[in-house]
Amino acid sequence: MADVWVELGEQSYPIYIGAGLLGRLGALVRDRLPETRRALLVTDSNVGPLYGETARAALEEAGIATSRVTVAAGEASKSLSQAFSLYTSCVRAELDRTSAIVALGGGVVGDLSGFVAATYMRGIPYVQVPTTLLAQVDSAVGGKTGVDLPQGKNLVGAFYQPSLVVADVETLKTLPRRELAAGMAEVVKYGVIRDEEFLKYVEVQVGNLLAHDPAALERVVQTSCRIKADVVAADPREKGLRAILNFGHTVGHALEAAYGYMWLHGECVAVGMVAAAIIARHSGIAEDGRLEVRLKRVLERLGLPTMLPEGVDPKDLGPYLRMDKKAKDGIIHWVMPVRAGEVIVTPKVAPDAIRWGLEALRR
Ligand SMILES: NC(=O)c1ccc[n+]([C@@H]2O[C@H](COP(=O)([O-])OP(=O)(O)OC[C@H]3O[C@@H](n4cnc5c(N)ncnc54)[C@H](O)[C@@H]3O)[C@@H](O)[C@H]2O)c1
Ligand SMILES: [Zn+2]
Repeated sequence: MADVWVELGEQSYPIYIGAGLLGRLGALVRDRLPETRRALLVTDSNVGPLYGETARAALEEAGIATSRVTVAAGEASKSLSQAFSLYTSCVRAELDRTSAIVALGGGVVGDLSGFVAATYMRGIPYVQVPTTLLAQVDSAVGGKTGVDLPQGKNLVGAFYQPSLVVADVETLKTLPRRELAAGMAEVVKYGVIRDEEFLKYVEVQVGNLLAHDPAALERVVQTSCRIKADVVAADPREKGLRAILNFGHTVGHALEAAYGYMWLHGECVAVGMVAAAIIARHSGIAEDGRLEVRLKRVLERLGLPTMLPEGVDPKDLGPYLRMDKKAKDGIIHWVMPVRAGEVIVTPKVAPDAIRWGLEALRR
């Protein structure tokens, strides 16, 4: 039984979540892709030495001949030249339309491998085996694949759904604490946009989550995937509802563009969520200031930033805000919280409220 099912008609797929699932990877792939006899296992230089052999052995045991390729860890691997080199690996491994690409790693490996799977031979099956919290709760689910161009992130890509997702929460034990916390920003996001009870759970479990308690991590990954799966099922190609997943990301992406060299995505989103809550209060959209207080408290306990870097003038973010990819005809659509568990998407946010929101982030 899948732990979460992503309902997308013929492109539906299961997400398996649990501690120790990596050892069962082969059996899970075989059940789902009975014709598959060959696989290309793509991983990165950090994850490969830790989990590559377990994954490869599990696939081989299930009768799937597996070649392994390792890309350098880091965003720079999400490139067309890296994709080109993976196409060559696909040919060398003699993959055909029934073969599979297995992405073992964080969002970089997942986005890159998914893109190669979407385009090699016009599309072959792929399996997401996310090993960062961000990938388990976000990037491995939803079918957005792609690579970066020198001009910007994710500029080339495709919507292409995996055949299955296998999230082993035990792999998170080796994840640096800062990466774990950054993933938690997206988890908090799900609570705010859809599920107040879940936000409460995270608030109560902060200590256990940071201590890698498997039961707490399992619950958090499962609920996050369920929320993302629901939203994606309602809007697979990002035409409407899916915009709510962008909560905290308008200011977050601006921060990332300006300070991405020193802050992780989740850290930028943490500040972005606080900004959105303040802007919503100043616009009269939020019913009161309670969410803002809750957000700051939980993010700080997770070790995430809630203010701009020292010495940064909020005015410097203006140009980056207007560059937001999600802006339509130059108009930003803000995801504004009404209260914990409920957000609206609106272009009608007073410039003064935005100015106040950003000013409040000054250290
Ligand atoms: N497709 C989507 O919907 C989507 C959504 C959000 C983000 N993304 C993309 O995801 C990428 C970021 O993903 P990420 O945060 O997972 O980054 P990442 O893949 O770079 O992983 C972060 C770091 O952790 C290391 N690592 C991974 N798993 C580990 C483990 N279990 N133990 C020890 N180290 C481990 C990696 O080698 C890397 O150094 C970005 O490119 C972003 O654009 C995509
Ligand atoms: Zn995000």
